[in-house]
Amino acid sequence: MARVFVLNGVNLGALGTRRPEVYGTLTLRDIEEMLHERFPEVEFEFRQTDYEGEMIGFIREAADSDGIVINPGAWTHYSYALHDALEAVEGVIKVETHLSNVHAREPWRRHSVISPSVNAVVAGMGPYGYEAAVDYILGGA
Ligand code: DQA
Repeated sequence: MARVFVLNGVNLGALGTRRPEVYGTLTLRDIEEMLHERFPEVEFEFRQTDYEGEMIGFIREAADSDGIVINPGAWTHYSYALHDALEAVEGVIKVETHLSNVHAREPWRRHSVISPSVNAVVAGMGPYGYEAAVDYILGGA
């Protein structure tokens, strides 16, 4: 059974009510249920935190898993600490996932300091991006 960590960072606990015109109306719990339904064969570990150090702990916890789907939220744009933590987790397929199309928004959202440390990036597909990321991981990258 594949084991996949789905890690959501800062402010993503507010999904559903946070800027629905940008991030949609599904809550994080809705997205997690969607993943359970779509991939009943996968053992998921869902985590969300607004604390960077806690997120680094989750990344380390995922070191012996099959894959990490991570939406780092705003940390995407400046957290070298998250970059280094992801880089250190070798042999795990890692996908950076964004609900919104970060390239079509403010210029500062176009740059990710996380991308060099992951296998793939998904942006702008809404909740489906999480499914696409898991599918990619199950395909063995
Ligand atoms: C986000 C995009 C980030 O720029 C933003 O700070 C978020 C969410 C997304 O899912 O589209 O919090 O990662």
